[in-house]
Amino acid sequence: MTLISYIAELGSEERYPFPLDFDHRDFEAMLARIEGIRDGTKVPDGFVQSSTFWMVAGDVIIGCTNIRHRLNAQIEHCGGHIGLSIRPSFRRQGLGIKLLQLSLEQGRKLGIQTAHIHCHTQNVASRAMIETCGGVFHSEINDNGSLVSRYLIELT
Ligand SMILES: CC(C)(COP(=O)(O)OP(=O)(O)OC[C@H]1O[C@@H](n2cnc3c(N)ncnc32)[C@H](O)[C@@H]1OP(=O)(O)O)[C@@H](O)C(=O)NCCC(=O)NCCS
Repeated sequence: MTLISYIAELGSEERYPFPLDFDHRDFEAMLARIEGIRDGTKVPDGFVQSSTFWMVAGDVIIGCTNIRHRLNAQIEHCGGHIGLSIRPSFRRQGLGIKLLQLSLEQGRKLGIQTAHIHCHTQNVASRAMIETCGGVFHSEINDNGSLVSRYLIELT
């Protein structure tokens, strides 16, 4: 129920992380799809295993994060280990920083030693969040005409 209103709040905004693009009208089915990607039984071609976590306040979903267990060549180039978002009405309260910190902790538990975190260079909020969480700028690439900043965070 709350995911439906979360998605409605996003409107036409690009959805992060990618599971928010799944059909969310049947939440149980959506969770089963997410679980198949986590446990490795139903990983779509070109994807890698990943874990999705919800940030909740009471019964309201206020954020979502997806942590890739490893990189393949494609997401090492562009995408990185973590995609996340905060529900629009809960932004600018430090929750993005909190959710990225929690995601990095999960990444460490998954055995990731160096987290690759990427964002569109024009995404000022995301860049600030990554830098506050210790992201060290590595490089900028042009992804189909869009500049992407790539950061590294040591987790060991
Ligand atoms: C990026 C995002 C997760 C940040 O969440 P948030 O809860 O608003 O961020 P926080 O309140 O923790 O603030 C993080 C930093 O960004 C800055 N910031 C947040 N929104 C900003 C904005 N609109 N403009 C400029 N700076 C902004 C904050 O001042 C803070 O900087 P600081 O650490 O130097 O003080 C959120 O904007 C979002 O969900 N965006 C859409 C999805 C997305 O872009 N995800 C990232 C791609 S993986």
